[in-house]
Amino acid sequence: MISVTWSIFLVWTKIGLLLDMAPCSVSAKPCPSVCRCDVGFIYCNDRDLTSIPTGIPEDATTLFLQNNQINNAGIPSELKNLLRVERIYLYHNSLDEFPTNLPKYVKELHLQENNIRTITYDSLSQIPYLEELHLDDNSVSAVSIEDGAFRDNVYLRLLFLSRNHLSTIPWGLPKTIEELRLDDNRISTISELSLQDLTNLKRLVLDGNLLNNHGLGDKVFMNLVNLTELSLVRNSLTAAPVNLPGTNLRKLYLQENHINHVPPNAFSYLRQLYRLDMSNNNLSNLPQGVFDDLDNITQLFLRNNPWHCGCKMKWVRDWLQSLPLKVNVRGLMCQAPEKVRGMAIKDLNAELFDCKDDGMISTIQITTAVPNTLYPAQGHWPVSVTKQPDIKTPNLNKNYRTTASPVRKIITIFVKSVSTETIHISWKVALPMTALRLSWLKMGHSPAFGSITETIVTGDRNDYLLTALEPESPYRVCMVPMETSNIYLSDETPECIETETAPLKMYNPTTTLNREQEKEPYKNSSLPLAAIIGGAVALVAIALLALVCWYVHRNGSLFSRNCAYSKGRRRKDDYAEAGTKKDNSILEIRETSFQMIPITNDQVSKEEFVIHTIFPPNGMNLYKNSHSESSSNRSYRDSGIPDSDHSHS
Ligand SMILES: *[C@@H]1O[C@H](CO)[C@@H](O)[C@H](O)[C@H]1NC(C)=O
Ligand SMILES: *[C@@H]1O[C@H](CO)[C@@H](O)[C@H](O)[C@H]1NC(C)=O
Ligand SMILES: *[C@@H]1O[C@H](CO)[C@@H](O)[C@H](O)[C@H]1NC(C)=O
Repeated sequence: MISVTWSIFLVWTKIGLLLDMAPCSVSAKPCPSVCRCDVGFIYCNDRDLTSIPTGIPEDATTLFLQNNQINNAGIPSELKNLLRVERIYLYHNSLDEFPTNLPKYVKELHLQENNIRTITYDSLSQIPYLEELHLDDNSVSAVSIEDGAFRDNVYLRLLFLSRNHLSTIPWGLPKTIEELRLDDNRISTISELSLQDLTNLKRLVLDGNLLNNHGLGDKVFMNLVNLTELSLVRNSLTAAPVNLPGTNLRKLYLQENHINHVPPNAFSYLRQLYRLDMSNNNLSNLPQGVFDDLDNITQLFLRNNPWHCGCKMKWVRDWLQSLPLKVNVRGLMCQAPEKVRGMAIKDLNAELFDCKDDGMISTIQITTAVPNTLYPAQGHWPVSVTKQPDIKTPNLNKNYRTTASPVRKIITIFVKSVSTETIHISWKVALPMTALRLSWLKMGHSPAFGSITETIVTGDRNDYLLTALEPESPYRVCMVPMETSNIYLSDETPECIETETAPLKMYNPTTTLNREQEKEPYKNSSLPLAAIIGGAVALVAIALLALVCWYVHRNGSLFSRNCAYSKGRRRKDDYAEAGTKKDNSILEIRETSFQMIPITNDQVSKEEFVIHTIFPPNGMNLYKNSHSESSSNRSYRDSGIPDSDHSHS
């Protein structure tokens, strides 16, 4: 093994030497000795430079100067003469002020991770053709931006000021701006005037600020007629914002606030909206008809809210049942009252909503479907009317259901605690079924954020192993039939059973408590071996790369960018790359739960096959996770507008 490694190392060494010499023999044009110049691309990055070297060739178009220690004094005035330069990468340097002497025609300027505090008209007016300005991770505050600093920048489309010290949106931003990112600042107020003129704005990101409903004027966003995406994740809103511009808004992100109130008109006129996310809030109910204007909605995410499935929410069930197949709604799982905790709102029987107190209201709604002549228009309603449970679907076959005392159970569940983290579920069904929805929930302390996990099992199975559970904890396991072939369901109420994982001391605790994934142990017995082999191969590859890097590092800095990466430093080049992150919300679908089952029975509502409400397993919070990830591994895109379906936060 060692000799093989050694010979591979030698081969790599030779390749390294060859590459090292290549530029010297090819390029005849002048090039600063510390840099590498390659037809217009000037590589002076990762060299511990304190100033930009002189002698950069005139045909330069792109200057890579990132990851140095260049300060403001280190920018020579002759840099101005490079009239072909369009892109400058100066991120992760030691700039305290916005640089001057930049080439006049620069279009793209990357200044992330410096310590820039002031932005002045003097410096910006020297680069009037600027289109993209990346200033994330600096120390810009609202007062340190000179009044009218941007007034000559009439081509600026994109301004990124994430992770600075802004307390409000700077005044006088150019009208031309299409994308504005101000996430992770300290913005607590936005005045109605500050955004008024930005009518070309398409994407506005305000995540991770201190915005509450008082700080947010009622009409701040109203003028943004071209806005397609608005993100207010991780703020302190207690109510959904109102007066949003409906002409173009397609995505609205409101996760991780404290929203417990949605005004009935919050989403009025948002006819283009197709993605709305209000996950991780404090919502217990929704006003009736709040989604009525959302003609184009296809993704509605409402996970991790303390839904109270009382009478106020009954309309949601009816609405869910009326939705077309393409609409994907997630997270409408009851957290209260206790008797329906863990159940999907969509699956609840009308009686479970406890509409007794408001009996009159619901009765009146029901009777609109019934010919008026049958009942007096006023006065006391006959008792029989209020009791009639299922006028919406007057299906005679449903009379088979005996809600008061079920004659026999459709599903009988058996549980067996296998270990501290696993529970074996098996079941018997009284009727043949095509599929069943299986969900489980850890019972206990936090009623607001229970984590329900669910999956769909095909009807031919009769057992399932729940894994990655928490030791010594009570769980509620529920099953509900999704359809039966040729036979009507007698009852759609979930069948539930409570059980507990085994106590810790009985078993050796496993070292990795993998809560993120749940495997199908019956299928994946070959997986660990594959993983071990894969891991070993990867280790060898990493060792080789480290050797090569070490060698090259010693012998010059040609590969230093790559080496920096494997040395474990933050991957700086994320700033330069168009690295969009994956949409985590999709990852929640487990492989086993995503079997598509042919629809053979017309009576079955098709939406049953849209898997909704898949919560992350216990204790996990996907949103929080993705955020902490984004702050430790910051990734920046050159331009965000064209891409549409990647979540950025
Ligand atoms: C909105 O965008 C369109 C192009 O998508 C543009 O023609 C129009 O001028 C913009 N509206 C405003 C008010 O700037
Ligand atoms: C959630 O909303 C309720 C009122 O509906 C409020 O009493 C409670 O403090 C809120 N919780 C959080 C965490 O904001
Ligand atoms: C829905 O979106 C499509 C495509 O963006 C658009 O053509 C259509 O007009 C929208 N529907 C409504 C009702 O606005």
